[in-house]
Amino acid sequence: MAEHTPVLRDEVLASLAIRPDGCYCDGTFGRGGHTAAILEALGPSGRVVAIDRDPDAIRAGQRRFEGESRLTLVRGSFGPLEERVRAAGVEGELDGVLLDLGVSSPQLDEARRGFSFMQDGPLDMRMDNEAGQSAAHWLAKAGEREIAQILHELGEERFSRRIARAIVSARAVEPIVRTGQLAEIIAAAVPTREPGKHPATRSFQAIRIHVNGELEQLEAALPQAVRLLKPGGRLCVISFHSLEDRIVKRFIRREEQGDPVYAGLPNVPPHARPRLKRVGGKIVAGEAEVAANPRARSAVLRVAEKVAA
Ligand SMILES: C[S@@+](CC[C@H](N)C(=O)[O-])C[C@H]1O[C@@H](n2cnc3c(N)ncnc32)[C@H](O)[C@@H]1O
Repeated sequence: MAEHTPVLRDEVLASLAIRPDGCYCDGTFGRGGHTAAILEALGPSGRVVAIDRDPDAIRAGQRRFEGESRLTLVRGSFGPLEERVRAAGVEGELDGVLLDLGVSSPQLDEARRGFSFMQDGPLDMRMDNEAGQSAAHWLAKAGEREIAQILHELGEERFSRRIARAIVSARAVEPIVRTGQLAEIIAAAVPTREPGKHPATRSFQAIRIHVNGELEQLEAALPQAVRLLKPGGRLCVISFHSLEDRIVKRFIRREEQGDPVYAGLPNVPPHARPRLKRVGGKIVAGEAEVAANPRARSAVLRVAEKVAA
């Protein structure tokens, strides 16, 4: 059974400021590392709603937490967060919401999921591999300019245009259906190497983010998380690259300021008042955690608290 080590586990627990009878949403269940930590800190009347769009994650969770009546596992994306939480039977407000973004170790490590350029597998990259279009599907149809734009915007890839050209030439000869095949096409198209980085790293990241609509999901979920929280409830988000972190940072800043249209005016209506208060600055993993778990190297945790309207 593939494992996943939760990053910033203690920091997440402290930031959620767990109340023993509280109700929490873990929007990215994965292999349940954070959910397990929250459940340990909860009393018998506490509750967790945990969501994941990956059917493997839900199956593994059902085995790991069999008989755990305080946990409701929900299969689906966290984009429609309010709908998922309500569908789990939670009527009231939440004490905390956690999002630990990106992919899990089992997704990366299992070649059949097609996320990895290190091991050859089908070019899939979908977190929910039973719905939507795979990376192979997208690359078979997308125009050269669209591919270049995605690699540039979501992978910050300097050689996006060269790589897109190489992909379009290669697919005219035979369909690109394996991760190894795509990694070779990219490696041959990139003229220089970043030290310690496979030349396909940025492109694979970009294609994965695009195929899974990761930034759109995050943008959709954040305001819903705030609506779901009770005053004093905590929002904790762990990002793994600058595009995600920028969205989280800007969202918290906007929500701290309230609607700028009313800035300086004496009577601000409730819907335009600040809804969040930042709790501390960004939290990153210490040396010991990074040494033990290299995935933690790029993790950034941001925390905010819902304020009363
Ligand atoms: C970094 S892992 C979470 C690991 C988890 N915190 C743990 O300790 O085991 C991210 C998980 O979130 C899921 N995920 C990512 N984006 C999602 C989304 N928009 N909706 C639902 N699940 C998502 C992935 O399928 C993956 O299992």
